[in-house]
This record gives sequence, structure tokens and C-alpha cells, in this order.
Amino acid sequence: MERIIQATEMYVKNIHSQDSSGHDFSHIERVRAMAITIAKEEQADLFIVEMAALLHDTVDEKLVDTASAWQNLENFFDSVQLGAEQRETVKHILKYISFKGGANKGKLKSLEGRVVQDADRLDALGAIGIARTFMYAGAFGDVMYDPDIEPRNLAETNYRDKSTAINHFDEKLFKLEDLMNTKTGRRLAEERTQYMKEFVARFKHEWHGK
Ligand code: ADP
Ligand code: NI
Repeated sequence: MERIIQATEMYVKNIHSQDSSGHDFSHIERVRAMAITIAKEEQADLFIVEMAALLHDTVDEKLVDTASAWQNLENFFDSVQLGAEQRETVKHILKYISFKGGANKGKLKSLEGRVVQDADRLDALGAIGIARTFMYAGAFGDVMYDPDIEPRNLAETNYRDKSTAINHFDEKLFKLEDLMNTKTGRRLAEERTQYMKEFVARFKHEWHGK
């Protein structure tokens, strides 16, 4: 097991080495650590959780060409001889983990998937979540704030339409606490959301010269 985890870590590090959109390897490391913490409290399978946490962004359509990414993943699983059942479980998690404007709601069946999803969402919240939001906006050419640009409804608009970093809090981040799967995840999400709400309030206050 440890051999497979180590090989996976190398595989993933290589894929994320070029990223500046908030999906660098340190994001993967934080999600992995948080997922393991939650998994222990929820009594989830630690091997599956760690594998899925490591691999969770390697097939994201926003970041990579998905057809070749899935093929590379199959080749990688072959090379480490991951068992058929574990392979299917991990692939199912990677397929349904992302938010997709709510389109993937309810599709993640395994406890392990729900744990990793909570850990991924928690990394979008709190102080780190704030920092990642501004990194992402910078990487995709959005301004940090514009009072004249309304928040979008992500279920209806194209992800790449213009918005602002501050809008992203209303568009997505403040909705995440209600979507948490586990008790541990929800508790942490509430605390981090509270902190972000204070941040946005202060930001707008300062913006207007107060
Ligand atoms: P997911 O794992 O749900 O696909 P994303 O890849 O969308 O998450 O998000 C990665 C990070 O970038 C998160 O911190 C998220 O809040 C941030 N982010 C995503 N979309 C935007 C956006 N339009 N503006 C600012 N930050 C964003
Ligand atoms: Ni992620």
C-alpha cells in the first residue's frame, strides 16, 4: 500500500508542477491531510481516501485535457497494479467530486468520496480559501472587485464568463457550508465561512474609503 501511495505522490506532483491557478501540489497536500483527519473521525477507508485525495485534480476538465488525463491514469494504475475494485472506487470519486454548478449533487456514493469532497471544499474556505480565490482571479484575468458586476448564477452561466474575485464568494464559496457531507466537515466549514464573511464585509468597507 505504502509503495502505491508513494508512486501516486510522484505521479501527481509531476502533473501539478506547472500550476498557478490555486491547484498546485500544496493544495493536494492540504486536501490529503484534511481528508485523512476527517476519514479517521468518520471511519472511512484510509487507503482509498488518500489515493483519491492525491489524484482528485488530475482529471479536472478545467485544468487538463481530460481524454488523455484519464488514459494516463489508467496507464499509471496498470503500472502500480492497483486492484480492480479499488481502481473503480477511486475513478468514481474523481469523476463526481467537483462542484459543476451543482450538477454533480448526490452522485458521489461512497463515504470515502464524500470525505475527500469535504476536504477539497474546506480548502476553498477560510484564510487559504481567500488567498486561492485571488490567485485564481489573477490567473484568469479577473479584477478583484467591481461593484457594477453582478454575481453570476453558476448553474446557468459558463464558468469562464467574466466575474470578480469578490463575486466568487457569493457565487460559490458561501454556498459550500450547506453542501458538506460529514459532521466534521460541516463544523469546520461553518467556522471558515464566518471568517470569510467578516473578510468580505471589511473589504467592501475599505473599498468605499471608510
Ligand atoms: P472544484 O474542486 O470544485 O472544481 P475549483 O477548481 O473550481 O474547485 O476551484 C479551485 C480554487 O479556485 C478554489 O479556491 C475556488 O474557490 C477558486 N475559484 C474557482 N473559480 C473561481 C472564480 N471564478 N474566481 C475566483 N476564484 C475561483
Ligand atoms: Ni482540488
